[in-house]
Amino acid sequence: MTAPPTDGGLDRPATSDTTARALVAAIPDPIFRIGTDGIYRGFKVDSEEDLMTPAEEVIGRSVHERLPPHVAEAILEAGRRAVAEQEVQRIEYSMQIRAEERDYEGRVVACGPDEFVLIVRDFTERTLQERVLQRERDFSRAVVRSTPSFLALVDENGTLLGVNRALERAAGIPEEAWLGHPFWKLFIAEEDVPRAREDFVRMRDGEPPGTVEYEHVGPEGERLVVDWTATIVHDAEGALRYLLCGLDVTARKQAEEEIRRSRARIVSAGDAERKRLERNLHDGAQQNLVTVTHSIHLAARSLHTDPGKAEEHLERALVELTTAHEELRELARGLHPQILSLQGLGPAVRALAGRAPISVTVITIDDVTRWHPLVESAAYFVVAECLTNTLKYARAATATVRVAPREHVLVVEVTDDGCGGAAPGEGSGLGGLRDRVEALDGTFEVHSPRGGGTRIRAELPLAMGS
Ligand SMILES: Nc1ncnc2c1ncn2[C@@H]1O[C@H](COP(=O)(O)OP(=O)(O)OP(=O)(O)O)[C@@H](O)[C@H]1O
Ligand SMILES: [Mg+2]
Repeated sequence: MTAPPTDGGLDRPATSDTTARALVAAIPDPIFRIGTDGIYRGFKVDSEEDLMTPAEEVIGRSVHERLPPHVAEAILEAGRRAVAEQEVQRIEYSMQIRAEERDYEGRVVACGPDEFVLIVRDFTERTLQERVLQRERDFSRAVVRSTPSFLALVDENGTLLGVNRALERAAGIPEEAWLGHPFWKLFIAEEDVPRAREDFVRMRDGEPPGTVEYEHVGPEGERLVVDWTATIVHDAEGALRYLLCGLDVTARKQAEEEIRRSRARIVSAGDAERKRLERNLHDGAQQNLVTVTHSIHLAARSLHTDPGKAEEHLERALVELTTAHEELRELARGLHPQILSLQGLGPAVRALAGRAPISVTVITIDDVTRWHPLVESAAYFVVAECLTNTLKYARAATATVRVAPREHVLVVEVTDDGCGGAAPGEGSGLGGLRDRVEALDGTFEVHSPRGGGTRIRAELPLAMGS
């Protein structure tokens, strides 16, 4: 008969006492011989430190005297069962030794009709290590679960083995529906699928992955832009895996696009403004000056022959010159009104209101406080454009202009009781105002329900300088 390999034949009857003693001595764990009545009959320890009581207080004592009740009970119960069933019993218990909680495993083997052997192994350290490992695992799991980044674990074929909550939520697909599919089959927008697949194959063939950007389709059909990176990892069995980590950059992309569009609008607004100036100069002052030159020329010619005619020409020149002067002043006022720089926002806004043929109420604080020139001119142009629109489109009876600081912003509000329906279009008056206000980090709102009047509100941060 061949003994099972774990026994190695040591328990055969042929084993001599010497061999048994050698075996006992070789075992590093404390060993106790205990009667089924719970009384210690013998023991072997490498060091007295392994005993809970002095060495002379072991033999003849009972397990109940030496051990906490729950441990004594467990040992005795296991011992009696080992004797009755002739089977090795295994128990686990914890107890305090010198103010320290320690974990033990006990093996209990019958060694006679009324006694058993208890072999004790201290596995406190192993438990501690396991606890540390478990804590590390829990920590990693919590990080993966709570990170706002998208995480997906794939094998070397790109097949999904797991995704985190953020990815489940963004795609609106529960984890179990991802598993087993190649990652490019889900969530990635159709046009980006071939590229995602090629990128993965290239990475698997050894090319450094870098950052790649794909479009994705969310649960409501919304488009998301995600930047992905990949890291090579190995799972617990050592198998090669790729951890794909995605960052949702949709909002950043949209903001970049908005800045690009606003920049384009500013450039084209600048061009349009230059053209308007050119046209105004051409049609206005330039024409007057041409006439002045012409009149002076004619006056010079008739000065000696017909002084009366010459005087007429000079008078004409004077009128044209005065008109040209007026034109240029008007033009300059349109660029930056003098009253604004000299007297401030209050008087400048009141002057605008005063020119309107309808009743305009102006509410400002004082005329002493001054703001940053850029804030003042933005506020002024908001009022000017909104009042012009009111007169042009609103068919309003009255309008109100409010300019007042509140916390860290200057609030500019223009309301009318007209027909409503104002909408900022690109490049036009209101769109231009929005760009101007947003360029100063302010906000611009248009509230203009049809038939319900118009309220336009700009908030301009004051912190940019005073
Ligand atoms: N107060 C208002 N009441 C009713 N409709 C308005 C009002 N303000 C603007 N609108 C409507 O909104 C549109 C857009 O105004 P916006 O000032 O942006 O452009 P515009 O006045 O048409 O052109 P621009 O200002 O470049 O001369 C106007 O064409 C007009 O139809
Ligand atoms: Mg307008």
